Amino acid sequence: MKRVHVLEFEDLDWFPGWLRTCITNNIVIMARFLGVRHALSPLITTALQRSEARQVVDLGSGAGGVMPEVIQTVRTASGMEDVTLLLSDKFPDRPMIERLASEPQEGLRYLPDSVDATRLEAAPEGLKTMVNCFHHMRPNEARAILASAIEQRQPILIYEMGGHQTVPFILWLLTLPLGLTLVFLMAFVKSAFVRPVTPQQLIFTYLIPLIPLFYAWDGQASMPRIYSADDLDELLSGLEDSNYVWEKGYGQSRSGGKLGTYLMGSPKQECP
Ligand SMILES: C[S@@+](CC[C@H](N)C(=O)[O-])C[C@H]1O[C@@H](n2cnc3c(N)ncnc32)[C@H](O)[C@@H]1O
Repeated sequence: MKRVHVLEFEDLDWFPGWLRTCITNNIVIMARFLGVRHALSPLITTALQRSEARQVVDLGSGAGGVMPEVIQTVRTASGMEDVTLLLSDKFPDRPMIERLASEPQEGLRYLPDSVDATRLEAAPEGLKTMVNCFHHMRPNEARAILASAIEQRQPILIYEMGGHQTVPFILWLLTLPLGLTLVFLMAFVKSAFVRPVTPQQLIFTYLIPLIPLFYAWDGQASMPRIYSADDLDELLSGLEDSNYVWEKGYGQSRSGGKLGTYLMGSPKQECP
């Protein structure tokens, strides 16, 4: 497998929750800017249609990502009006949980307890989604998640917004100083678009730039971690099951270009 599990600070148990929130806030802005909603909505609609699930259980939701917006789009499709979304994370995002408690949105909840994606069997029933989260899993964990989906006959959709741009590790290393600088600078722009914005987001972007620093490192470190199409085949090798189907491919941007990669797993529907 070509993938390299470079350290991401977000994964560390001691990493402060408020800093993780600020960083994932910036990921949401990036996803909006790229138009991830347009790539993800049709994939989720297809996964729901194939499985007949009506609840989406998002794992590794962070600050929610674009999933709440994606579900609004999904609900506009015929027969999808009642689809609900359950957000969750190993490190649940307290500000988002509090916001949803004070301003409830129909069909949208965030589980306050930690949900570990590596224990897929313990997650609530429904279509499991992992958006920009699967690269946090080491290969043994990633394979166990896929095996568990098959075993539990649970549909799953894995999506990585940066997945279509994989480069050899050596090239990643050589371009790292430039990549870090660009992403560091971009964080100053992104933090300005975070809503609702908190004093922490502003102070630790513009006065003490911890957010740009960690956002740049984790963003760059995630690139060599993303499973390529070949890596996914390697993970799935030996897990073949005649009652479960896998499909992988690229997300499609509004302009028709590639935007991210996906792996969709669906249990075959039983004949009546
Ligand atoms: C890069 S963020 C993506 C957040 C969000 N899905 C988005 O697209 O904006 C990755 C998220 O995965 C979460 N995560 C990491 N390991 C996890 C695990 N084993 N189980 C559940 N969530 C996990 C992190 O806490 C973090 O919020």
